[in-house]
Amino acid sequence: MNRSDTHIEPLIAPDQFVGLEGVTHLCTGGEAPWLKAQEAVYAEFARLKSAGHDGREEIYARGERCRSRMGELWRVPSDRIAFMPSAAEGMNWLARGLDWRDGDNVVTTNLEFPSVAYAWRDLRAHGVEVRLVPHRDWLVGETDLLDAVDERTRVLAVSQVSFYTGQCLNIEQLSEGLRQRNALFAVDATHAAGVVDVPAGLTDLTVSSSYKWLLATHGVAPMYLSEKAERQTASTSFGWHNLAVWPAQEAVRTPEVEELPMPERLEPGNPSMMVVMHLDQALEVLLSIGIERISDHARTLSEQVSAGLKELGFTVISPQNRSARSGNTCFLVKDAAAMQTRLAEMGVLCWGEFGRMRISTHLYNGSADVGRLLTALSE
Ligand SMILES: Cc1ncc(COP(=O)(O)O)c(C=O)c1O
Repeated sequence: MNRSDTHIEPLIAPDQFVGLEGVTHLCTGGEAPWLKAQEAVYAEFARLKSAGHDGREEIYARGERCRSRMGELWRVPSDRIAFMPSAAEGMNWLARGLDWRDGDNVVTTNLEFPSVAYAWRDLRAHGVEVRLVPHRDWLVGETDLLDAVDERTRVLAVSQVSFYTGQCLNIEQLSEGLRQRNALFAVDATHAAGVVDVPAGLTDLTVSSSYKWLLATHGVAPMYLSEKAERQTASTSFGWHNLAVWPAQEAVRTPEVEELPMPERLEPGNPSMMVVMHLDQALEVLLSIGIERISDHARTLSEQVSAGLKELGFTVISPQNRSARSGNTCFLVKDAAAMQTRLAEMGVLCWGEFGRMRISTHLYNGSADVGRLLTALSE
């Protein structure tokens, strides 16, 4: 019996999430369901926020615990992780801060999420070329990406897992290919973090939104920054949180002031601390199960979705190789929005847009969800 025939149960009961009773939720790639445990975090935040100075200190302590859990998930020192407001802002921070020269280039793909492809758009006016490496039959070749890198490439920017196809790029191969090169390696891990391993330490920048596979919500995007990238990048926003104003300056400002090192360097003001606390709670759940078990689970479900879709005659565009799979399994449909609506009417929540359906399988899904999807598609 191969894995696609094995019946697997969810790693976490769906009733630990709001609104999953009677629903087949297969759209975490768009928006994850809400962990019921977050309701207590919300109440705790309210209590701490009302508790004056000591409450604020406790909020910050939870923030540091979250930073350290993110470091554990991505296997990097937590003091190299900052909380950005969005994944888009993380990529744009790099685009704004590098000392670009006429003739430099950025390598990315023509199937990229917009914030990865276009963070560099204003630099074209300064002579910076943006190379959109074309996909081949919906898949992006690691070798094609590396072949497009030359001595003037400043950044190779990709999503670890594609929002469109679910392809999980080989980060080790890309990182190895960039060794001895000048280019920085910038990764958007929004569709990877929380569901497959994210080897952030092999990159110069890894950023992820936290409202999808990380099971938190909008407003905070953890970002890892390497020492190499930090040395090459000038900050472009300053505030009380990333400058050495206190205690040294007290009330009175002087013209000169030092920047604080990572992680504060990327946080000119307070991050959204309530969302940081939600992320902390979600990380406790994810880490207690372990990313290896979660990725194994998601990839087996992806194999089951893929096999079933093919039997029904659909064109699956996600990779068939297990290590290039992720939690997203995608297939081509002309009117994907209409199919999304029809499936939702049958209680099956998926994401459909731009000519493809995306089926997302996470830790609260099991084979029974795959069965319900396939039944709904065959009706
Ligand atoms: C690859 C990728 N990056 C980023 C985002 C959005 O993240 P944010 O809103 O934090 O910029 C998405 C959302 O779909 C995405 O698919």
